Amino acid sequence: MLDLFSEEAPWAEPLAEGAVILRRRAREQAASLLAQVEAVAQSNPFHHRITPGGHRMSVAMTNCGDLGWSSDARGYQYTGEDSATGRRWPPMPQMFRLLAQACAQEAGFNYFQPDACLINRYEPGAKLSLHQDKDEKDLRQPIVSVSLGLPAVFQFGGFERGDAVQRVLLEHGDVVVWGGPSRLRFHGILPIKAGIHPLTGAFRYNLTFRRAR
Ligand code: SIN
Ligand code: FE2
Repeated sequence: MLDLFSEEAPWAEPLAEGAVILRRRAREQAASLLAQVEAVAQSNPFHHRITPGGHRMSVAMTNCGDLGWSSDARGYQYTGEDSATGRRWPPMPQMFRLLAQACAQEAGFNYFQPDACLINRYEPGAKLSLHQDKDEKDLRQPIVSVSLGLPAVFQFGGFERGDAVQRVLLEHGDVVVWGGPSRLRFHGILPIKAGIHPLTGAFRYNLTFRRAR
């Protein structure tokens, strides 16, 4: 039950035009979301991908949905199969899809139809350098990003890598949505600090929902 008067009730925090943090939005569902993450990882385990530049990513990744994002020596791409196992990505759980669509709508993006969910797992010290999400076909569709477990500092910048960035702490259950005029903003995650979260132990998880095709 949502209690609108408790401190735990979600609230919206604007970041930029077309970008908002829905604080605590996924908190009540977190345990179920994490159980689904576990199920996905059983069939398609987390994997440290290699960047086109030959670096091993500190973030471990898997995916669910029709398409999954990955990286190898050839570049960044969406594929129907996990190159590590040769298996298709598991279907996107209904609960994931509904949450992503509801969050997109609350941020002002109707008709979001995610077909890809990238699941990132961060251990202490893991980070994601500033980048743009630009491998998707339809850039009118937003990005919906759900944070679970250990907190992280999210960097939200401009349209050039060197532009000034906002730094905001993302905590368990926070959802960030960016699209429209903010769709191609650079963003990243600073190295995660060590800690123990009651639901995720020593990890942070992030679900990023995209419309890839
Ligand atoms: C991403 O940019 O794909 C993930 C961001 C995050 O982990 O919060
Ligand atoms: Fe991203």
